[in-house]
Amino acid sequence: MVTAPWPSGNRRQCGILCDFARVALAHGKVWNLLVRSCAQVLSDPETFDLAVCMETLTGPFRIKPSMFLHATSLERSHAETVILEVRDGVAWVRLNRPEKRNAMSPELNRQMLNVLDQVEFSDEVGVLVLTGEGSAFTAGMDLKGYFRDNEAKGLGAIRSAQRESYGWWRRLRWFQKPTIAMVNGWCFGGGYAPLFACDLAFAADEAQFGLSEINWGILPGGCVTKIARELLSFRRAMYHALTGESIDGRTAAAWGLVNESVPLANLQARVEEVCRVLLAKNPVALKATKDAIRRVGEMTYDNAEDYLIRAQEAANFFDSAGREEGMRQFLDDKSYKPGLSPYDRSKHPG
Ligand code: ACO
Repeated sequence: MVTAPWPSGNRRQCGILCDFARVALAHGKVWNLLVRSCAQVLSDPETFDLAVCMETLTGPFRIKPSMFLHATSLERSHAETVILEVRDGVAWVRLNRPEKRNAMSPELNRQMLNVLDQVEFSDEVGVLVLTGEGSAFTAGMDLKGYFRDNEAKGLGAIRSAQRESYGWWRRLRWFQKPTIAMVNGWCFGGGYAPLFACDLAFAADEAQFGLSEINWGILPGGCVTKIARELLSFRRAMYHALTGESIDGRTAAAWGLVNESVPLANLQARVEEVCRVLLAKNPVALKATKDAIRRVGEMTYDNAEDYLIRAQEAANFFDSAGREEGMRQFLDDKSYKPGLSPYDRSKHPG
């Protein structure tokens, strides 16, 4: 936000700003260019006079001061493209470009890698929830920042941007803690990658899901076609991808794209409930189980059997005591029934 008081001074700086504004208006892209020019002017605050600037902007360009302030708040720093809040054992990660429907820009993708680094092995975090600010979960890849701008720079830039985006989805698929996609609104195209990367997904009835790429003439982005085949039946995947028609949260749940759909007003409460269920379980067992579910899909029965025996033995190596405590509470204490609830980890947090 712009804060007063500003030192008075240089009309030339304001002239630069207004030139930008004129170009911006001519191209119908007021905000982006205004923001960029503001940053340029603000980098030299000693010579910047906000009052003079506003006077000029509010004249010929009919830009109100409130719009100007709004515009400055739209320029998010790299770090602000994702909001992280850790509360009651849950890392709430919110894609934060609501004015762009949380389209995944290179900056956002880079920041997601940072955020995953921050929370993956934090003792304060047992579950990660991924959601979006505003009306979108994510509108998919940022057509400008991710595609057009990088394509203009060449193959190196394209590959670099792909490493970051594919990189954080891969990190999320194999994340140490269970993950939940909380789909609060629009979810398009490349947005299916983080959706699939999360172990569980809960949607608002009001959410809209679509493989919209066909509508602007490309293949579904990245691995999205593969994801559609993983999560949907052949006929549904084909219809969804070929028509570009979007479906709401309820249909997404009926098709198996998400676990459940509830009214938007109840979405967070439902996800919090699921988080509490997961937080009560043994974390080593959770990681082994989520990996097993993902891995065995492409294995033969015999290969899966071998892998799963070794996965259990590896889990025992990390936490044999937890497993023994679970057995002890059932067999000796008779204090719980594993068929109905988890063992009490407070007696042996492990
Ligand atoms: N990439 C870049 N900018 C986007 C994207 C996107 N994927 N989605 C939305 N935006 C921008 C718009 O350009 C607009 O910017 P502006 O204010 O500078 O003009 C802003 O976000 C708001 O978008 P609106 O279209 O005005 O929002 P509305 O709520 O009316 O519609 C909707 C939302 C339906 C999501 C629409 O924005 C849309 O169709 N977006 C594209 C969805 C899509 O096709 N995604 C797949 C991308 S390809 C891929 O992921 C591989």
